[in-house]
Amino acid sequence: MPQPLAENRTGPAAGLDLPSWETPATELALPESELHVWKFRLPSYVEAPPRAPLSPDEVARAERIRSPDLRQRFVSARSGLRRVLALYRRCSPREIRFRYGNHGKPEIDETELSFDFNLAHAGDLGLVAVSARGPVGIDLERIAPRPHLHAIAARMFPPAVLDRLRHLPDDALVFEFLREWTALEARTKYLGHGLFRAPRAAPPELRIQHFLAQADFIAALASKPVPATLPRLRYLELAPVLD
Ligand SMILES: CC(C)(COP(=O)(O)OP(=O)(O)OC[C@H]1O[C@@H](n2cnc3c(N)ncnc32)[C@H](O)[C@@H]1OP(=O)(O)O)[C@@H](O)C(=O)NCCC(=O)NCCS
Repeated sequence: MPQPLAENRTGPAAGLDLPSWETPATELALPESELHVWKFRLPSYVEAPPRAPLSPDEVARAERIRSPDLRQRFVSARSGLRRVLALYRRCSPREIRFRYGNHGKPEIDETELSFDFNLAHAGDLGLVAVSARGPVGIDLERIAPRPHLHAIAARMFPPAVLDRLRHLPDDALVFEFLREWTALEARTKYLGHGLFRAPRAAPPELRIQHFLAQADFIAALASKPVPATLPRLRYLELAPVLD
C-alpha cells in the first residue's frame, strides 16, 4: 500500500488548508459570499445502509455496475448527494429529480432553482460543492504515488506546467501533478465538459481553490468570482446514516 504523502505537514502539501469540518444545523443559509463544501464517508459494501433514496434510473444504473464494491460506492455517493441537496431544496432526498448535460453533469431538474452543485468521490470519501453564485466544479484525489505521471502530464497539461513538473523530486512531483490534475478536473466539471474535451488552460475568470479534504486527499474547487472576490469556503460534514 503506498504511503500518503500529505501527512507530513512540512512536505509539499504544507501550504494547503487542512480544514476542520462543522456539522451544521438543518436550516442552512447559502449567501453568495460563500461556497459550501460537504464531506461524507462512502461506506464499503458490508457497512452500507440497505435503504437508499434513489430514483429508478439510478437503481438501474447501479444494477449495471458489476463490482459490488463499486456499485455500493455509486449508491452511497448518490445517497449522500441527495441528502445534501435536500437540505437546500427543503424536501426529502428521494424527491430530488436530476437531469444531465451532454457529458453527464447532473443538475436538479427545475427551472427556478437558486443553487448549483457538483459531486466528486475517491476512495471512501465523497465531496459535494454547493453554490448560490453560479456553477461549480469539484475534484478529489488520494495523494499517493502513481505510474506514468510525465506521460499523462504531456498529454493533458500546457508546456509551462510540464516544464515545472520536469524538475521536481518524486514526492513534490506527485503532489504538484495532483494539484494540476484536480484543477483540470474541477475546471472540466465546472464547464460540464468531458475530460478529453476540456480547454488545457483555464478560462482567466475561473478561480481554483485547493484544500486537503483529509491529510491524504487533495481537492480542487472551480468557481467564478462574483464580484471579483474569492468566496469563503465553508466546510460541512454530513452525519452517517445509521439505519
Ligand atoms: C466528468 C469527469 C471529468 C469526472 O471524472 P472522475 O474523476 O471519474 O469522477 P469524479 O469523482 O470527479 O466525479 C464524478 C461525478 O461527477 C459528476 N459528473 C459526471 N459527469 C460530469 C461532467 N461532465 N461535468 C461535471 N460533473 C460531472 C457526477 O455526479 C459523477 O458522479 P456519479 O455519476 O457517480 O453521480 C469524467 O467522468 C468525464 O470526463 N466524463 C465525461 C464523459 C463523457 O464525455 N460522456 C459523454 C456521454 S454521456
